[in-house]
Amino acid sequence: MNDQKPTSTVSRRSLMLGLGGFAAAGATAAAIGTVGLPRPALANVQHAFAAKPGLAKLIADDLPATKIWGYGGMTPGPEIRLAQGERLRVDFENGLPEETTVHWHGMRLPNAMDGVPGLTQAPVQPGEKFLYEFDVPDAGTFFYHPHVNTSAQLGRGLYGPLIIEEPNPPVVDRDVVWMLDDWRLENDFQIAGGFGNLMDMSHGGRIGNWASINGEPYETFPVQAGERVRLRIINAANARVFGLEFQDHAPQVIAYDGQPVAPHPLPGGRLVLGPAMRADLILDMTGAPGQQFAVRDTYYKGNEFKLLDLVYGPNVVREQLLDSSIRLAANPIPDPNMAGAGRHRMVLGGGMMGTMAGAVLDGQSFDMVQLADFGKAWAVNGVVAGSDSLAPVISAHLGETVAITMHNDTAFEHPMHLHGYAFRVFNRDGNKPTLGEWRDTILVDPAETVEIAFVADNPGNWLFHCHTLEHAAGGLLAVVRVT
Ligand code: C2O
Ligand code: CU
Repeated sequence: MNDQKPTSTVSRRSLMLGLGGFAAAGATAAAIGTVGLPRPALANVQHAFAAKPGLAKLIADDLPATKIWGYGGMTPGPEIRLAQGERLRVDFENGLPEETTVHWHGMRLPNAMDGVPGLTQAPVQPGEKFLYEFDVPDAGTFFYHPHVNTSAQLGRGLYGPLIIEEPNPPVVDRDVVWMLDDWRLENDFQIAGGFGNLMDMSHGGRIGNWASINGEPYETFPVQAGERVRLRIINAANARVFGLEFQDHAPQVIAYDGQPVAPHPLPGGRLVLGPAMRADLILDMTGAPGQQFAVRDTYYKGNEFKLLDLVYGPNVVREQLLDSSIRLAANPIPDPNMAGAGRHRMVLGGGMMGTMAGAVLDGQSFDMVQLADFGKAWAVNGVVAGSDSLAPVISAHLGETVAITMHNDTAFEHPMHLHGYAFRVFNRDGNKPTLGEWRDTILVDPAETVEIAFVADNPGNWLFHCHTLEHAAGGLLAVVRVT
């Protein structure tokens, strides 16, 4: 159990250094007020910001700040909050020493706004600007991040929440964003280099040693008895899967990846979110004034840690809990027509401890050792995504239903993300029942097979890749072409 709460800088330090894999979170003297982000006015649909270096107090207010990269110099970047159907307009500037783009993760948008360098736009050069502009069709919890050198750029803190509000949201007392991340920090509290090294790339990706919520030190989340909170949880980590358990509370899931789902309790009592995955929870505060309950991460056996405590203040907001509906209205997404679907198979291969002996890169066959020399280790259907080989793995006609059976033939789990679409999950093997839910990212376990489908109603070249960012860089990336 890593619940020991260090009380001094020294013990904080040794805590961080002591646990190679991961340090227990909550190691700060400064409890922050609320782990929520300021809400700009809805009328303000025009945003202008730059990606640039900045500083963040990731560990504690009385410890040195960490040099980060962030939108507006902050991590997370500014919260963008629009009403469903409004137009997003972001005047973006690159203040980094290298090229970048912005990708609007989970948004169904015009291909030219998708932010993929060399596929949908030219990268934005240092000092240059790019205007991102599109209408937002779906309500829900999304986020934005770069799509160039992503392991390093996102890993240094470039990401921000993108919240699209329903016209008639469920009644709650508070609407709160928790943007989860983990960081690999050195003894001097600075971000460790070595992004995309072969070791991380060919194993589970870059797992950090320090967790943050909204880029801040935290240990408590103040609540009041009887209140109803909508928690929008976003996993912005490069590779870490979060698995959260709420002690003595019964959150209801109302959306995955921004897409409404029939309200249901946490499957197995735990919210599992792979990289880039999101969930909206409705959390009724059923405790009493003065009580305290832990939110623990139990995903990695032997590396469980406490994320924070729900700490009840002295007030009772209401004696009887709210019983108004928490069900969200569906987004306007066409339902797949399975009878007439074009069927495709995607086999994920490679990595250490896998069975893949070699694969094709830029038209040539290589064995695993040779691939490693190119910094590659993964393949989709035996093809490694190379620098210039973005030939589509799936081609579809506009309007047809695309059904994909995806099999994970590796020893690692992969959060597979499709750009520009939400897909419906029809089938998973193992003993994980499917709710027929919509997602844009699905965590596929080793040896698991999943079936997903979507109507190809949005033309363009769309990436389909692992969101363990080091795996994507290592070749686990493909293109779906809709014409
Ligand atoms: Cu969240 Cu291809 O990205
Ligand atoms: Cu992966």
